[in-house]
Amino acid sequence: MPFENLLLRDEDGARWITVNRPAKLNALNASVIAELEQAVADLAADPSARAVVITGAGEKAFVAGADIGEFAGLSADAGQALARRGQRLFDALAALPKPVIAAVNGFALGGGCELAMACHLRVASSNARFGQPEAKLGLIPGYGGTQRLPRLIGMGRALEMLLTGGTIDAATAHAWGLVNKVVEPGELHGAVQKLAEEILAVAPLSVARCLEAVRLGLNLPLEQAERHEAALFGLCFATDDVREGTSAFLEKRPARFTGK
Ligand code: COA
Repeated sequence: MPFENLLLRDEDGARWITVNRPAKLNALNASVIAELEQAVADLAADPSARAVVITGAGEKAFVAGADIGEFAGLSADAGQALARRGQRLFDALAALPKPVIAAVNGFALGGGCELAMACHLRVASSNARFGQPEAKLGLIPGYGGTQRLPRLIGMGRALEMLLTGGTIDAATAHAWGLVNKVVEPGELHGAVQKLAEEILAVAPLSVARCLEAVRLGLNLPLEQAERHEAALFGLCFATDDVREGTSAFLEKRPARFTGK
């Protein structure tokens, strides 16, 4: 399906998805949400896209939030349905068995901060700003923000952001653990590409299983999460790649993983 609000390109095994509404700072309106749903479904079914990068068009914004223009006149039920739809989309993105990296090239506010947090890793340009300003609009975050933010940066810092609606700069986001790395704007593309390449060089099934162990385990009691980890660890021994990885180590040569 051709997209009107997303630009897609494949680069060295990674699918770059650019939210492309720069005149509205890439705000997530209903069309963007629908197209992202399709793009995520396509990714789940496409083995050629081995990593995913999400970014925003232009130099100013990653995504400046849900489209506030679509909030006027929403009923409580419609608001809840909108939140559930956004949550399902971001959960599907987070559940992809391949690495998803946010290349945060400017404002990541509201739904944009939530989109970045649903990605597995975040690289920010030094001009990025993060925030959950919903309380300034009489709202609260509805696309997982009240849940992912404290999980990523801890309750005190998350509540400071949620309750004030204020923004933090890239350096603070890095110090607080909200982003993995901060680079100059001109270096963002290269830094994200390098990170994706490093992940694509290790065993693909190991990547998928690490993602699953962390994602599911964080919502389980430790003992259950460890059982799940052990089951996934065991499954690794049924792969060609564990033989290749261990043989390559012992033979002092680079491993050639097949993802089998
Ligand atoms: N929804 C709808 N439109 C948005 C938007 C959003 N979340 N964020 C920005 N825009 C639009 C602006 O209305 C403006 O459109 P216009 O040119 O047709 O008037 C355009 O994008 C540019 O934004 P502008 O506010 O003029 O840029 P700025 O540099 O002065 O400010 C921000 C940038 C990000 C600080 C400001 O746009 C902002 O606060 N946006 C809303 C952030 C927010 O509350 N997000 C959470 C939503 S739940």
